[in-house]
Amino acid sequence: MTAASASLRSVAIRCEAVTKHYGSGETRIAALRGVDLAIDEGCMTMLVGPSGCGKTTLISILSGILSQSSGELSVFGTDPSRLPDGDRAEWRAATVGFVFQQFNLLPTLTAAENAAVPLLIRGTPWPDAVEIACGHLSELGMAERCGSLPRELSGGQQQRIAIARALVHDPRLLVCDEPTSALDHETGERVIDVLRAAALRSGRAVIVVTHDQRILRHADTILRMDDGRIIVEPVSDAIPPAHGA
Ligand SMILES: Nc1ncnc2c1ncn2[C@@H]1O[C@H](COP(=O)(O)OP(=O)(O)O)[C@@H](O)[C@H]1O
Ligand SMILES: [Mg+2]
Repeated sequence: MTAASASLRSVAIRCEAVTKHYGSGETRIAALRGVDLAIDEGCMTMLVGPSGCGKTTLISILSGILSQSSGELSVFGTDPSRLPDGDRAEWRAATVGFVFQQFNLLPTLTAAENAAVPLLIRGTPWPDAVEIACGHLSELGMAERCGSLPRELSGGQQQRIAIARALVHDPRLLVCDEPTSALDHETGERVIDVLRAAALRSGRAVIVVTHDQRILRHADTILRMDDGRIIVEPVSDAIPPAHGA
């Protein structure tokens, strides 16, 4: 992205000197040691770094699931940590779609019902919510499995239910923790296409935590983390050239 085109975009998310520690005293762990970042609207950002460097902690703070220990945060103009608990839950339900690493599906609901949960919470009538959820599952290659229970599905299929559930209410911020970890290459590419389509609109942002080198080339920005801090690199510097290039 050129400096000129970057300047035309609005900033979706800004962090200044954000820290997070867990525990206290002898067991205190500094998970984030001062994170500064700005994420533009309409972009797909990928977050990479070694295990334990703070990726899940950071995206949990951006999503209002955890609160930072110190530092400034703005997510579409709101710092979720400053909202009272009830308002924060409401803000999160309206603003954020989060794909958890462990999927967190409800075992007694079908694929479509699981994916429909964010709409059901908002009061969308059951049949409408399930129909919309089926549409998202179909885009992810799951049209035939809308009526299946999670236990009848593979890990990759369960992962796509979790992704459909995060997309279903068209959140402004979509956050995915390793969304292609259980997927074969072709399905992973399909999922990334769907996530990209969700990102490439004004007033939207998608953040993907990934170890999957194959999908990094789809990023607009790659944020590299190490030991609780972040380094921003232009995409062209971060991706090794393809073989034979
Ligand atoms: N709930 C928690 N309680 C205590 N320490 C935690 C907790 N969650 C994460 N940590 C620690 O914080 C650091 C960052 O963890 P995490 O954000 O999960 O990293 P990543 O997602 O990059 O693997 C690690 O040292 C981890 O052990
Ligand atoms: Mg993690």
